[in-house]
Amino acid sequence: MARKNLLELIAREGAPARALVSKVWRRYAMRGIGGNDNHAALETLYALPDPWGMTTAREQSRFVQTNGVIAAHAGRVGSLLEIGSGEGHQSEHLAQLCDKLYGLDVSERAVERARERLPGATFGVGELTALPFEAPPGGKFDLVVACEVLYYLSDIGRAVEAMSGLGRACLVTFFCPSARRVAEHLQDIPGLQRGWIYHDPYAWLWAYWEPGAEPGGDSAQS
Ligand SMILES: C[S@@+](CC[C@H](N)C(=O)[O-])C[C@H]1O[C@@H](n2cnc3c(N)ncnc32)[C@H](O)[C@@H]1O
Repeated sequence: MARKNLLELIAREGAPARALVSKVWRRYAMRGIGGNDNHAALETLYALPDPWGMTTAREQSRFVQTNGVIAAHAGRVGSLLEIGSGEGHQSEHLAQLCDKLYGLDVSERAVERARERLPGATFGVGELTALPFEAPPGGKFDLVVACEVLYYLSDIGRAVEAMSGLGRACLVTFFCPSARRVAEHLQDIPGLQRGWIYHDPYAWLWAYWEPGAEPGGDSAQS
C-alpha cells in the first residue's frame, strides 16, 4: 500500500490513532515552514488529511468566533476571498456570511479537498499577488480574509498591502504566540480595529480594516 494511503487510513476521521498521528506528522512536516514561502513543504504536509486539526473544538470555536467578528464589522457581504483556505474547513463557516466565496491556497491537495467540501465555492491554487481566478466585477472583493496564514509568508507587509488592494474590507487573525511578528505590519493601518478570540487556553488576535478609511478610527476590543 502506498505511504500516502496508509497515512490516510490511520488518520481518517474518527480513527482512534488520528490525534496522535496528526500531532506527530505535523511536528515532522512543519519543520522549517515558518516565514519562508515553503510551498513544497505545505503540499507535503497535506499528504495527511486535516494536518492542522481543524475539526477540534478549539478550531471550530475559532471559526464560529471569527464569523462573529465578521458579522459585527462587515455584516453579510457579496464576495469574500479567503487566503489560505486549506481544505475548506473555515470556508464552510465563511460561506454562511457571503453570496460568493473564493478560496486561495498554495497547496493543490488542499484545494482539491476544499472543492469536494464546498462545490459551490471557487477555489484555486495560487498566491495573493497572482490570483488564479477573476476578481468580481469592479475588481475588488467585498471582504478579504487571511486567517492563520500570514506567518507562512516571507513578506507579511507585502501581503497586507496586496490584501488592501484587493478588498473593500480586510480581516486577519493570527495565533497569539506569533502576534509580534504579524502585528508590526498592521499597526499603522488607518482605522484598524483589533480584538481577541479565546478558546482557553488559546488566544488569537484579529485585525479588521477598510482600506482608504480615515486615520483615527483605531480601537482595541475584546
Ligand atoms: C494553518 S492553515 C489555515 C487554514 C484556514 N485559513 C484556517 O484558519 O483554518 C494555513 C494555510 O495557508 C496556506 N498558505 C500558506 N502560504 C500561503 C500563500 N502564500 N498563499 C495562499 N495560501 C497559503 C497553507 O497551505 C495552509 O493551507
